[in-house]
Amino acid sequence: MSGHGFSHADKLSCLNAGFATEVMTTDTLPKLEDYSPEAVQQHVGELTSSFDADIKSIETNEDWKAIRDKWEARTNGILTRLNEEWLKAAPQEHKKIVGAALNAMRWYVKDQIEERKKTLANLQVNSGSERKAISDIDITLPGTRRPLGAEHPIIKTMNDIVNVFRAMGYSVGTGPEIETDYYNFESLNFPPNHPARDTQDTLFIAGQESKPQRERLLLRTHTSPVQIRTMERQKPPIRVVIPGKVHRSDTADATHSPVFHQVEGLAVDSNITFCDLKGTLDHAMKALFGSGVKTRFFPSFFPFTEPSADVAVSCFKCGGKGCRICKQGGWIELLGCGMVNPNVFEFVKNNGYDPGKISGFAFGMGVERIAMCMYEIDDIQLFYQGDVRFLEQFA
Ligand code: PHE
Repeated sequence: MSGHGFSHADKLSCLNAGFATEVMTTDTLPKLEDYSPEAVQQHVGELTSSFDADIKSIETNEDWKAIRDKWEARTNGILTRLNEEWLKAAPQEHKKIVGAALNAMRWYVKDQIEERKKTLANLQVNSGSERKAISDIDITLPGTRRPLGAEHPIIKTMNDIVNVFRAMGYSVGTGPEIETDYYNFESLNFPPNHPARDTQDTLFIAGQESKPQRERLLLRTHTSPVQIRTMERQKPPIRVVIPGKVHRSDTADATHSPVFHQVEGLAVDSNITFCDLKGTLDHAMKALFGSGVKTRFFPSFFPFTEPSADVAVSCFKCGGKGCRICKQGGWIELLGCGMVNPNVFEFVKNNGYDPGKISGFAFGMGVERIAMCMYEIDDIQLFYQGDVRFLEQFA
């Protein structure tokens, strides 16, 4: 070793060899010959830097012990030797300044060594428990497999339908499942006591007798109320599809459920005709069931459309010859539609829907019914039972 004997390389080799104290004891400390305060400060400063580097280099308990002994050992520790070689050797008149500098350094060294011991202990507690936790893990065990979820077939079908219309430029809307009599019936041209209301019986919220009929709340029986809600919010032209859940007083059986889903459609513009309705729905059915299917429109009745029609699709399974799916009829009835009744526009006339100037068509389809056809499901109840064996077929 050369010079002060505190070069980084020397220190490392001392530590690594594990005989730091031994080597240091044979090492010579720099000699203190100039007793001016600046010179004393500088020497002490250099020693302190060397001590700091030692502290930094500590990684294990062994390192810590070696460094502690190197600096604090009673016999031949650096602090002891400084006392001998610097303080005792100093002429009387300089003892004060050397003593003060060494004292300060002694406290510093003591503090740092104690401090380092604490941080070392913490570190070991932590890495110790981590090590134990790691050893408790049996890495040969198979991992926990969480099965991936998938869209429910109803949601999937609903999205498929909506996407067909989105591709034609329709936007998507929603509305509340708890509706007022006004939106569910009155504004859709079901006057109070009209017999068409009987076909859509539902649950009414209790205790509303004091309210006028149009404000009474009920579970919506179809998604058509969102037609009016959309026209109240938005001026024509409109092209919108509305997926959602609806309720009817029906006894559950293989083809009925008191809660089911619909996708509603509404197009309003200045010159919409029945041809637009036919073309749009024919395209949609081909997109859903294959380009080979044909559509058939036949007269029907809904209070809010005039004229109204039901739409049937030629059986996508047998091509119309007759099979189990189409119940030998060759055709599958899938949805209701029609030209928006001018009486409906009257309710939103003030928002730009003058029945003399604009026209529109609307349609509504049952999602369960379409899904049952697409996937050849013969019991609607399977959709609601949550049986994974059923559901995973659609994953
Ligand atoms: N809302 C009707 C029903 O639930 C379906 C429908 C919607 C018919 C729009 C015509 C136009 O039966």
